[in-house]
Amino acid sequence: MHFSQLIKCLLLLALLVSCLIEVGCLSFRYPSFETDNETDLIRHNSYIVLNAIQVTPDVSGGPITNLSGRAFYKEPFRLWGKSKHTGRIRASFNSTFVLNISPRTVPGGEGMAFILAVDSNLPENSQGQWLGIVNAKTNGTSQAKIVAVEFDTGKSYPGDVDSNHAGLDVNSISSIKQVPLGIFGINLSAGVDVMVRIQYEEENLTVFIGEDARNLVFSEPIDLSAYLPKEVFVGFSASTSTYTELNCVKSWEFYSSDINEDHSLLWVKIVVPIGAALLIGIAFFSCWKWKSKKNRSDDAYPSIEEEIKGSSMAPVKFTFKELQKATGKFNLQNMLGKGGFGTVYKGILKNKEVAVKRISRESTQGKQEFIAEVTTIGNFHHKNLLKLIGWCYERSEFLLVYEYMPNGSLDKLIFSDERAEVQENTLNWGRRLTIISGVAQALDYLHNGCEKRVLHRDIKTSNIMLDSEFDAKLGDFGLARIVKQREQTHHSTKELAGTVGYMAPECFFTRRATTETDVYAFGVLVLEVACGRKTGNQNEQSDYNSRIVCWVWELHRMGRLLDAADQKLNGEFAEEEMECLLILGLACCNPNPEQRPSMKTVLQVLTGEAPVPEVPAEMPAFVWPTMPAPVKESDCPLTGSQLTPFSEIRGR
Ligand SMILES: *[C@@H]1O[C@H](CO)[C@@H](O)[C@H](O)[C@H]1NC(C)=O
Ligand SMILES: *[C@@H]1O[C@H](CO)[C@@H](O)[C@H](O)[C@H]1NC(C)=O
Ligand SMILES: *[C@@H]1O[C@H](CO)[C@@H](O)[C@H](O)[C@H]1NC(C)=O
Ligand SMILES: *[C@@H]1O[C@H](CO)[C@@H](O)[C@H](O)[C@H]1NC(C)=O
Ligand SMILES: *[C@@H]1O[C@H](CO)[C@@H](O)[C@H](O)[C@H]1NC(C)=O
Ligand SMILES: *[C@@H]1O[C@H](CO)[C@@H](O)[C@H](O)[C@H]1NC(C)=O
Ligand SMILES: *[C@@H]1O[C@H](CO)[C@@H](O)[C@H](O)[C@H]1NC(C)=O
Ligand SMILES: *[C@@H]1O[C@H](CO)[C@@H](O)[C@H](O)[C@H]1NC(C)=O
Repeated sequence: MHFSQLIKCLLLLALLVSCLIEVGCLSFRYPSFETDNETDLIRHNSYIVLNAIQVTPDVSGGPITNLSGRAFYKEPFRLWGKSKHTGRIRASFNSTFVLNISPRTVPGGEGMAFILAVDSNLPENSQGQWLGIVNAKTNGTSQAKIVAVEFDTGKSYPGDVDSNHAGLDVNSISSIKQVPLGIFGINLSAGVDVMVRIQYEEENLTVFIGEDARNLVFSEPIDLSAYLPKEVFVGFSASTSTYTELNCVKSWEFYSSDINEDHSLLWVKIVVPIGAALLIGIAFFSCWKWKSKKNRSDDAYPSIEEEIKGSSMAPVKFTFKELQKATGKFNLQNMLGKGGFGTVYKGILKNKEVAVKRISRESTQGKQEFIAEVTTIGNFHHKNLLKLIGWCYERSEFLLVYEYMPNGSLDKLIFSDERAEVQENTLNWGRRLTIISGVAQALDYLHNGCEKRVLHRDIKTSNIMLDSEFDAKLGDFGLARIVKQREQTHHSTKELAGTVGYMAPECFFTRRATTETDVYAFGVLVLEVACGRKTGNQNEQSDYNSRIVCWVWELHRMGRLLDAADQKLNGEFAEEEMECLLILGLACCNPNPEQRPSMKTVLQVLTGEAPVPEVPAEMPAFVWPTMPAPVKESDCPLTGSQLTPFSEIRGR
């Protein structure tokens, strides 16, 4: 059977089955939210940021007033059905979630709600007092078709008991049941995690709250099938008014029971054989695909070689055997570092020390990225870029050979306490300036110096290698995560997550890398080198700026900028130079991308050709772009890429 025929046949089968299978029970569990999970949700003004659903957008300082938002699970579930014998049969369900409401004004506003709704859209003008549940038009009407358990942080109506209550709303914003939460010691507006459990069984809806959801808030007899259709979406809504707050859902699980309708037996008869046929089809298909993939990867070999050879000044091609020998059969003794991409080994090739990166099979770095890396970086010639010497593609394995850097990566030297004595002499002020200037030159070269603009996208101290003269070489292969931590495999993944501290605030919204996001990461690096401390993460709700940026900016505001200088320097630096570097770092870390200097300007400042940029005393608030910024040619998405010269950043 031909490939496309097979696909068509399978699609047809799948279609047939999906028509027969009705929406049934639903269950899911998110212990926390990852950006990848956004595709599981139907979202309106809501995003997954910092491991939570932000039901109304989450921007410190940006306009988040008068907004409503909703987030539903992508599929509806079956709430009830009919049986000839027993009449209506109702599903039971339960859902446990953790809310976190952080007021941005005093008082905060307005609140959020767990909702079951027929319409997965967001009603117009449902902001403010309406909590994204209904609007003035639909309030109190049966068309609303919504049941909500509200967690209200504003006393918006005379009927509201207080500004800290839970309530049950049916097609209306006026609750049929309300309970103040203070009696359980719960303050919704305190910015703390609040666990809630909602249970529905036997026409009885129950809400629990607090630690382990152990306090019964209310239990209300209600037949949901009287208000809602058979299939409903489940999710959350929230709103702000002139008063604002961040409305987050940090974890969420949901289980609904199956309902047995009369005709179920009938379609079990149809579905089972078709399902079986489908399974066999899939098994056959994947087997076939696997086989053909195996064939293809062998085919791919000459084509990779051609593509790479076609580029000018291609690096040397090595055989697997050569590299195996060079690294002592990839001996663990020779391991320099390990990361999500694979492992780096030290080796000796033709009496020269090299670093060999063996890309792991699980790595997302595929054939295209490999070719991109070899052809682009292979063509770079800049003293501050780590040089690619050669490559190998054999047995479906990708390997890259780089020059060896005796002094390892910058983070090792700058952050390690145990080496403090060594460090005093090794990373003196002069060397730090040289390193910064080297990285700036490399980045300027990538951004402006070569025919195609290249974004590095993962600038961080562990990606800066130091040669024997302590000159910086920009690269990426996690040489930082070194021998010492060899046995701790999970350590490297944790370090990878550290990249978050280098991400510009807009990354969380635009998900794109730009020259400006590179500049931001560079700014963080500058501050780290000057202060000798790590960036700190961005885990604070609503705080998109790196910890170090906020810290230095605060010192700047208080006129005590020099206090930021690394203690380990023992005051051995020129104060003007330190100040210049810190201000430059802050300028690069301006929360608003358009106000950051270009790498060209940065370089001019470092060489004294341009004055140090002015930096406001207060850190500017990040302004939420009302329109997504137009996509520039030089941008590339943070996910998937056509050119991955070094590695992807994501919130890893
Ligand atoms: C959410 O996304 C993460 C990261 O991709 C994934 O590991 C996890 O399985 C997803 N959760 C669910 C419930 O799909
Ligand atoms: C928000 O809505 C209120 C009430 O409609 C209005 O008074 C206020 O000006 C609005 N604020 C903004 C920033 O639009
Ligand atoms: C919403 O509808 C209810 C009837 O269900 C009514 O009592 C209430 O006054 C309405 N609220 C507003 C703000 O219109
Ligand atoms: C709840 O916490 C907020 C923030 O800490 C505080 O302003 C408010 O007064 C508290 N409310 C109650 C009822 O304790
Ligand atoms: C409703 O369910 C809750 C918890 O499952 C239970 O405590 C309560 O007694 C039930 N109420 C009725 C009327 O069945
Ligand atoms: C309710 O949740 C528990 C897990 O907490 C689960 O075992 C049970 O099956 C759920 N009930 C229904 C009706 O989904
Ligand atoms: C895979 O390769 C083998 C031998 O080279 C060949 O006989 C077979 O037809 C190929 N399979 C596919 C699906 O191309
Ligand atoms: C840096 O490299 C040089 C030359 O290999 C070596 O002599 C020196 O000890 C290294 N310094 C550190 C701190 O590793």
